[in-house]
Amino acid sequence: MNLTMVGTGYVGLVSGTCFAEFGINVTCVDKDTGKIESLNKGQIPIFEPGLEDLVEKQVKAGRLRFTTDIADSIKEADAVFIAVGTPPRESDGHADLKYVHAAAKEIAELAEGYTVVVTKSTVPVGTAREVEKIVAQYKKPDSVIDVCSNPEFLREGAAVNDFMHPDRVVIGTDSMRAVEVLKEVYRPLYLNETPMVITTAETSEIIKYAANAFLATKITFINEIANLCEASGANVQHVAKAIGLDGRIGSKFLHAGPGYGGSCFPKDTLALTQTGKSLSVPQTIVEAVVEANKNRQVQMAERVITACGGSVKGMKIGVLGVAFKPNTDDVRDAPALVVIPTLQQAGAEVFAHDPAAQEAAEKHLKNVNWVKDPYDVSKEADALVIITEWNEYRALDMSQIADQMKVRRLVDMRNIYKPQDMRGLGFHYVSIGRPEVSPKGSAKLKQVS
Ligand code: UGA
Repeated sequence: MNLTMVGTGYVGLVSGTCFAEFGINVTCVDKDTGKIESLNKGQIPIFEPGLEDLVEKQVKAGRLRFTTDIADSIKEADAVFIAVGTPPRESDGHADLKYVHAAAKEIAELAEGYTVVVTKSTVPVGTAREVEKIVAQYKKPDSVIDVCSNPEFLREGAAVNDFMHPDRVVIGTDSMRAVEVLKEVYRPLYLNETPMVITTAETSEIIKYAANAFLATKITFINEIANLCEASGANVQHVAKAIGLDGRIGSKFLHAGPGYGGSCFPKDTLALTQTGKSLSVPQTIVEAVVEANKNRQVQMAERVITACGGSVKGMKIGVLGVAFKPNTDDVRDAPALVVIPTLQQAGAEVFAHDPAAQEAAEKHLKNVNWVKDPYDVSKEADALVIITEWNEYRALDMSQIADQMKVRRLVDMRNIYKPQDMRGLGFHYVSIGRPEVSPKGSAKLKQVS
């Protein structure tokens, strides 16, 4: 089979490479010349564990190539995937579909014979129908094009594995012929008995938003329960474990933290609320989630200030982690982008470390002292703040850190350390949804295991 992937962002590059691993000839197209030049030199523009090796392997096998020339591959393609960006419009938060529409027009003008055009980008309900209209308008008279929605559910940092082992594949189209082509594209997964949900394009589009909005809701829910735990002396980790053991609830995405970030949840929750408004069916739960998550990032900065006695003026604060989550260099909507400037505005000097996201964060943050060694952020610091739970922060020598800090104060926004261990090292330790401990505060500690 021959397949063209239009757009080499996160979803396009990972999906294209993994389809090549399935044995399909894949051409990845992007208008960004610099990006394609880098890819052709074997340089991967995103930080994604396992991707570089896979790209190299597939390019060597002759199944994967990169080009800026869309005309190059469309004629032979059995399926053309649209995986271009759908950023929120600044004016109203609606997903901006101009790149999707432009790609649909270009593909239609070039396609020959039978082609399936697949929307892989996260797009609001109704987009596949719009793409159908565009291709009908611009296609060659003797070509036949079916349109299909096939959303992607991969996570950054685990993208290759998620693509290869999905919980389900969703195919939304009215055309059985298109379904057969897509089943062939996903043949290795089909043979593995990965569930395939075959449905209409509208349903498929809503599935993607509903999945992300539900997960964002789950996180926001447990974050609010964490607040309740703090106010009442309970422990949110125990609450999450106990409710998660109920199969109807499930244990995943119940880690309380500084609020969700990244390129998907913030954008998709907002887009869903906008779709709800435009169809006169307000998505009030998701609206509340969007608001609560926005407030949470600000509250996290306030929590640091409170832990420092109400003012951070003139203090030196060390920050571990600026990426929105581990195993990525992505800082889009990362809590650190709110926490750090808020601390700076309150008069703190910030030292920061991140294993992968410094370069991306430098574009958004000013006057941060970046260090290469995570231990260096705590030297002479008045407080240490853990914002991202990178593995390398889980096993730090905390006694060394305690020794080199000016004041032993730790705000752990990911609950990666144990309160009693931190108390033992003389820390005033503040975490999420668990009682605060200080060297003297032993009464509260009894409730924490
Ligand atoms: C998310 C979804 O998980 C994917 O299924 C989906 O395909 C993707 O969006 C997308 O639409 O493209 P991603 O944004 O890469 O993936 O990251 P997640 O691992 O889902 O984490 C999102 C945010 O939630 C992070 O800020 C993370 O720290 C936070 N989170 C996650 C929590 O605070 N608690 C949790 O228990 C889980």
